[in-house]
Amino acid sequence: MTEAAPTTDAAAVDLVPFGELPMRQVADALAAAFGEDGAAGHTPTAWRAMLGLELESGRCDPALSTALVQNGRVLGACIARLGDAPYAHIGATGIRPGRRGQGLGRRLVSHVLQGMLGRAHDRVTLEVERPNLAAESLYESLGFRPQRELLTVQLRKERFRATGRLRTVRVAAEEALAVMAGFYVGGPITGSDGVHFDELIQEPQPAFQRRLEYLRTFVPERQSQGALIGGAVFQAVNVGGPHLGFAMYRGSQLFTMTACDFDDQLIVSTLLQVALDKEPALRLIHVPEDSPAHIALLRLGAEVTGRATEMCWGRPEPVP
Ligand SMILES: CC(C)(COP(=O)(O)OP(=O)(O)OC[C@H]1O[C@@H](n2cnc3c(N)ncnc32)[C@H](O)[C@@H]1OP(=O)(O)O)[C@@H](O)C(=O)NCCC(=O)NCCS
Repeated sequence: MTEAAPTTDAAAVDLVPFGELPMRQVADALAAAFGEDGAAGHTPTAWRAMLGLELESGRCDPALSTALVQNGRVLGACIARLGDAPYAHIGATGIRPGRRGQGLGRRLVSHVLQGMLGRAHDRVTLEVERPNLAAESLYESLGFRPQRELLTVQLRKERFRATGRLRTVRVAAEEALAVMAGFYVGGPITGSDGVHFDELIQEPQPAFQRRLEYLRTFVPERQSQGALIGGAVFQAVNVGGPHLGFAMYRGSQLFTMTACDFDDQLIVSTLLQVALDKEPALRLIHVPEDSPAHIALLRLGAEVTGRATEMCWGRPEPVP
């Protein structure tokens, strides 16, 4: 009896850095893993654009971000982001549905985590949309621990309880970016006109997630190079004097927002109204539960539509 040829599934599965692969293949695998209706909700084309943006901005590390490849086919992938040591972040990670439960996810994430630790990036965070028992169990078994709850918040126009409107101006992208990026590198900063900004809709953590270079990739001139959906619009709120807040949004996605005072409903309301003038609803992801931003949004009529757990490997972040 002749021995059967090895099945495709039994052929060696290699760990290959993104830098050595066409991103189209990685995008296809991630789209299959998450499904077009999944948490990320992206088509292969959108994944491809997103990966292009991640690599171009230096947010995703091409040597540490890894795919599992068998016979030239990408079975799964994990996006790795390195910030200033000790920070690192694991982004979208997925295995094609037909290849789950075979230890591939564990192998992939362990490899990426070891690579991070090997470079002294030992405070590794990630977010898991809930419910996702498989992912939570995998990460917990690798030593990740839940750190805090993050929300996806939706604000529909018909539920929006506007509290008035201040004058708004479009500001130079660089100005808005500098204010926002400041949060991600050093905490509270002062805007160009002397206003102290001390709140951001998403906290400045992990510090590396939105460096200035990354934020710059969202400015409208760059749309043709693959921004996800539409371009960024920057709006500052002011009352004939200093800027009081900035919002950055692309279509219905409110990317980030900062205000000098989130308790001042007029400021927050104005920033949201600007985006709702054009969109029937706004979506904000990863708003920390019970943060000033979350409370301000609920007061204005926002609803919680999804939850994620932020998990951390290593010493947890001090959460304010
Ligand atoms: C999460 C995911 C990456 C796991 O990949 P996988 O290759 O199936 O996982 P593995 O076979 O390596 O299993 C590793 C561990 O995950 C956990 N796990 C995997 N499938 C599970 C399931 N259906 N139920 C509960 N735990 C499960 C177990 O702890 C398992 O360890 P064990 O085999 O020692 O019990 C995969 O299910 C996936 O791609 N899901 C869709 C995308 C996603 O949700 N990604 C994570 C968020 S970014």
